[in-house]
Amino acid sequence: MPVLPPWVSDPAGPVAREIVPLYWFMFGAAVLVLAIVDGGLIYAGIKYRERPGVAAKQFHGHNLLELAWTVIPTIMVIIFSVLSFQRLLVLNDIDTGAQMTVKVHARQWTFQFEYPQAFGDAALVTRDGKALTAQQELHIPVNTKVKLEITSEDVIHSVWVPNLGGKKDAVPGRVTGLWLEADRAGTYKGQCFEFCGDGHADMLLIVVAHPKNEYAAWAQRAVAEADLFLDPATQRGSELFKTLACAGCHKIEGLTAGTVGPELTHIASKANIAGVLSPVNEENLTRWIQNPPAVKPGTAMPALGLDAETIDAIVKFLLTRK
Ligand code: CUA
Repeated sequence: MPVLPPWVSDPAGPVAREIVPLYWFMFGAAVLVLAIVDGGLIYAGIKYRERPGVAAKQFHGHNLLELAWTVIPTIMVIIFSVLSFQRLLVLNDIDTGAQMTVKVHARQWTFQFEYPQAFGDAALVTRDGKALTAQQELHIPVNTKVKLEITSEDVIHSVWVPNLGGKKDAVPGRVTGLWLEADRAGTYKGQCFEFCGDGHADMLLIVVAHPKNEYAAWAQRAVAEADLFLDPATQRGSELFKTLACAGCHKIEGLTAGTVGPELTHIASKANIAGVLSPVNEENLTRWIQNPPAVKPGTAMPALGLDAETIDAIVKFLLTRK
């Protein structure tokens, strides 16, 4: 599925479709005002300029003009307000007809999505009996009104997926609401829209809209993935991976979000490690983590000086990442 660039003029859902005509109407009005004002300025500047033998005409006050540039903007602002509030009624009605609720937890610098309820036959509960949670990617069924309950765990962030419309701040200590609906399957890019610190520009969110009949299959895969982290045999390894230096560089879907090193979500399915060790098995992974530069001189990954038991737990965990 192509990832659509975030652009307001390509609405993919009813919320965005509410907003887009108003966006273009206001944009058009602004361009018109620009053309009239600047056009008039340039015209007057040329026509009435001082020339040899012709003195520029001086005049003060012009009741009709003064009235026009007071009344016309007032009328425009009233029209914009009425149209905006009409749409806000639709945008703010997050409850009517909502078929699914997702909780959004924003924090520096990632969005976490929690699915507190089942959708149809898609059970969204992990083996510990808790609601499925995942980072960065929000998965929704198409043609379904999804209610987002948004909050922040640190500073103010803002949720915006332009193709689907609507923008809402994530405020610590408060829950704000937004609704999304995609009417065609696809992957839609979004972005934190409130400056929130160093990582603001990289605070992305992706909405993946699945055909309704494929949503349960996605849910099953997502729950199975999440369950892997909860497997008693590998849980210690995943905890270590998350808390040690690994997390700073490597991404594992649903666990860590590092971007410096290669993504390891499916490392156990890869053909080799760092291009030099093959196959990906316990022995090779252990050798690699013990001392990467000894295996591949010049590699960016340093020897972390981990003890054998720690490496063993991490290796066992990584080998489940198929
Ligand atoms: Cu979070 Cu900007």
